[in-house]
Amino acid sequence: MKRVLVIHYSQTGQLTEVLRSLCAPLLHAGHTVNHLVVEPATPFAFPWSRMRFFGAFPEAVNGDPVELKPFAEPPGDYDLVILGYTIWFLNPSIPINSFLKHPAAATILKDKPVLTVIGARNMWVHAQQKVRGLVTQLGGRVVGNILAEDRSPNMVSLVTIIRWMFYGRKDPFLVFPAAGIRAEDIAGMSRFGPVVAEHLTHGTIDQVNPALLALGSARIKPSLLVLEKRALVLFGKYRSYILAKVARDPASRERRVSVFSVVLPIGAFILSPITALATVLMSLVKGKELAQEIDELLRY
Ligand SMILES: Cc1cc2nc3c(=O)[nH]c(=O)nc-3n(C[C@H](O)[C@H](O)[C@H](O)COP(=O)(O)O)c2cc1C
Repeated sequence: MKRVLVIHYSQTGQLTEVLRSLCAPLLHAGHTVNHLVVEPATPFAFPWSRMRFFGAFPEAVNGDPVELKPFAEPPGDYDLVILGYTIWFLNPSIPINSFLKHPAAATILKDKPVLTVIGARNMWVHAQQKVRGLVTQLGGRVVGNILAEDRSPNMVSLVTIIRWMFYGRKDPFLVFPAAGIRAEDIAGMSRFGPVVAEHLTHGTIDQVNPALLALGSARIKPSLLVLEKRALVLFGKYRSYILAKVARDPASRERRVSVFSVVLPIGAFILSPITALATVLMSLVKGKELAQEIDELLRY
């Protein structure tokens, strides 16, 4: 029987549920599952205020770590590390990024196969490349990825996540569905467990990803990939704008975060339908290239 270490941070418990569902079959198959829960020394309170939410943007985008609560380095040798993370502003969440930059991370991840599990709204491609890079730097190797996302259309999930994050309300309202990953999708994560368990048993965990993909472990919508790339360019500029005058005028950050908190949601609502339309047109000309890029992004 093999040993699995699950590392994760979840603010509302959504990702914890995803991982619980995924790991139940591993326990059932007789594997040992231990947990390392990442916790920032100063917790990120939930629900968020508008200023705290958008105030986390510069550090999330730049990958600046925060101090973590001390954690016991898990004893023993693991056959698989499952790294569960969420996305904050197209990047790995600040707590998980802080873990990956923590001195203890190398000891835990060195020479280990790492299966990433993402619980996000719908934009995660850049974050996954970053996580893959950090894990590789630490001497680990990402062997696959499982995505749990909100499958509502982009504009719909934008509305429901804003309500959830700022008011703590996940329930359906008006014509909108419940916020976050649907309960049946969280329950459905358990379908990947037996595949992971089997590859662990046979010592073939490095080859697990094609079997996971065959079960629908991840997909990339072309329009969201294009939107994410555009947003990333803008995010660099927004970050520079927010921090531009901080050295001379520390209060300028707060003022600029306030401006950004209005500009970003409006920008997202304008850019999203335009990009979706542009991607349909682009697919007519560059459809093959886009499909090939997506195919490569899903392979490990
Ligand atoms: C500050 C912040 C920024 C976020 N940015 C993104 C994002 O860029 N892309 C995305 O798919 N989800 C984004 N989300 C949603 C999270 O990835 C996640 O689904 C949600 O916070 C619930 O996760 P939990 O398990 O930590 O509660 C963001 C959430 C927060 C709090």
